Amino acid sequence: MKQANANFDFDDDAPLLEAEDLTVSYSTSQGDLIAVDDVSFTVKEDEIFGLVGESGCGKSTVAQAILSLLPSNGMIPSGSIRFRGIELTELEKRELDSLRWENLALISQGAMNALNPVQRISTQIVEAIQAHREISKQDARERTRELFETVGLDPERMDDYPHQFSGGMKQRAYIAMSLALDPDLIIADEPTTALDVIVQDQILKRLKELRDELNISVVIISHDISVIAETCNRLGVMYSGKLMEYGDLKEIFANPYNPYTLGLQNAFPTLRGEQADLISIPGGPPDIADLPDGCRFMDRCPFATAKCGEAHPPLESVGDDHASACYRHDIIEEMRTDAGKRDTWDQLHAEVAASGGASDE
Ligand SMILES: Nc1ncnc2c1ncn2[C@@H]1O[C@H](COP(=O)(O)OP(=O)(O)O)[C@@H](O)[C@H]1O
Ligand SMILES: [Mg+2]
Repeated sequence: MKQANANFDFDDDAPLLEAEDLTVSYSTSQGDLIAVDDVSFTVKEDEIFGLVGESGCGKSTVAQAILSLLPSNGMIPSGSIRFRGIELTELEKRELDSLRWENLALISQGAMNALNPVQRISTQIVEAIQAHREISKQDARERTRELFETVGLDPERMDDYPHQFSGGMKQRAYIAMSLALDPDLIIADEPTTALDVIVQDQILKRLKELRDELNISVVIISHDISVIAETCNRLGVMYSGKLMEYGDLKEIFANPYNPYTLGLQNAFPTLRGEQADLISIPGGPPDIADLPDGCRFMDRCPFATAKCGEAHPPLESVGDDHASACYRHDIIEEMRTDAGKRDTWDQLHAEVAASGGASDE
């Protein structure tokens, strides 16, 4: 059941979240720099949607734009973000405040450090509940107890202070707080990045169970494609502010069409069915103050041709619920199976060059 909200007339037929041609820029001493460029995606009800890409690709900017939490130099020059049919970019602060927590919650990067160190955790959650609901302190405490159980924390510990908790426990406590008002959608930005692998696994598993038990939809943002692979149904691969590949997770993992996705997957050991050394793509995303005219990934791409230097490729449909932005879909299709087996990205570069695959057309 989706949450009603007296301040909004939601459209029951609209997708849960829809970003359309979203562009976000930051005003800096070097001018207005575009961090998110014409990005469109849809998050459906009851799904876990992933946004993946290396650091600096614009993922957190997307999350902050959705919740109008951009830093003061951030702006949305064009595009639209609709939540259950409501245009979020046009809301006033008061309206957003009523939507936030009740319907849409953000677990931001480093959220566990957002807990107030001098207040008991229970006090913080009780106050968050009472800020939105006419409810007695006792009932709010009871709700907090339930929430602790929901996220797998011992309710006996709810009156502890944050410093008495480990990193993983603090992250769970923050997730408990974000669940307090039964939101329809939680956006979790790198929810497990600071945690060790075992705790990371437990928390991701819990987020999945929450989706199943409470019908809460989740957007998970991560630089780590294995996190997305384990948790999501659909995903968007972002590079340098652009959506490079988008759609159904199984379909994209079975048939990746974008060299950038392929590159991220080479750094993903289970693709080859065995634990192998992690291989990453040499180099990094371009500086947003100095973006190339052509494909943003061109400099690092083994398949690039002269055409790629002309303009960034448009996102094209390559399958059922599957789109990719690349001019070389034909050659990727051909080389994909082999590409996953290359030992190094450099070797792939050399082989493609030797086969004449990357020659100028
Ligand atoms: N307040 C800001 N002012 C200027 N540039 C920013 C600001 N915040 C982020 N950026 C830039 O925007 C780009 C995207 O950043 P971000 O959304 O944090 O990426 P990600 O979350 O994928 O690591 C980066 O180039 C980053 O340096
Ligand atoms: Mg980020």
